[in-house]
Amino acid sequence: MKLDAFSIHVPASTANLGPGFDSVGLAVNRYLSVHVQPSEAWETVYHGKELQGLNDDKDNLIIHAAQYVAEQYNQKLYPCRLEVESSFPPSKGMGSSASAIVAGVELANILLDLKLSKKEKAFYAVSLEKHPDNVVPAIFGGLTISFYNGKDVETVHVPDIAVEMIIAIPDEVLHTKESRKSLPNLLPFNKAVEASAISNVLVAALIKNDWEKAADMMNRDLFHEPFRVKHIPFYTDLKQKAVSLGAYGAAISGSGPAIVFFTPHQKAASITEQLSSAYPEYHFETVFPDRKGVLVNKSLSAAAL
Ligand code: HSE
Repeated sequence: MKLDAFSIHVPASTANLGPGFDSVGLAVNRYLSVHVQPSEAWETVYHGKELQGLNDDKDNLIIHAAQYVAEQYNQKLYPCRLEVESSFPPSKGMGSSASAIVAGVELANILLDLKLSKKEKAFYAVSLEKHPDNVVPAIFGGLTISFYNGKDVETVHVPDIAVEMIIAIPDEVLHTKESRKSLPNLLPFNKAVEASAISNVLVAALIKNDWEKAADMMNRDLFHEPFRVKHIPFYTDLKQKAVSLGAYGAAISGSGPAIVFFTPHQKAASITEQLSSAYPEYHFETVFPDRKGVLVNKSLSAAAL
């Protein structure tokens, strides 16, 4: 089946929320957009300064993910020209590779008319990303709590999350693979039990919309923040300052180096302004939960024409 041009929009996401390591994620209203036109050969054009580093086609996660899905159905994709733009930077902890994988899964879904359910999309995307905490919210929108053991993926989806966020983005990049090298291979049993109880309370607090308790649990994380904090400049100071200005609390966004702050309704913009003048080392943006997840529409952006 030959299709007209279409566009895929995938939200960014913030993963972990502290102790929800490799499981909990929240979709954020920043987007990777892929404008697709059937073509004679595969071609990817990246728009914007932030994406220039991705110009190497052998690392093209979008095409790789699309071809992976096609192979699962013994099908071949016809070639397309992809124009890619993003309103969030890669390798900062905002789920950029997960968004690219989800875009690729959706690309195959449309080109091959697979009619995949969200759960099926999540399964293919997690098979590639290996942990579900960015890809699943990018597919479902909202908050997701997921489990993946290499074979099965299970998710509880909480579409409506009443919180505002601030993302603090430093200049440096930190690749997830590098950041994961700081983590221990094993936790003693008693630590693992404590860490999992902290995560359980985090999730219950998020579902009850009790952000004070959720922030308290973020501060108690034992799974990854204690090992990664050294890579995040001024993390403790920034968190204290943000809380003194009215934020609930903060967490390392995904594997970092970005930080995500959670704030009450209509507080984020003023806190963003005050943090921006106090910490010029970071770029601060107010963001909100995305509630829809990946979307496809038939119109091309101006960039792709
Ligand atoms: N859970 C992942 C990590 C998210 O913290 O390494 C980043 O891909």
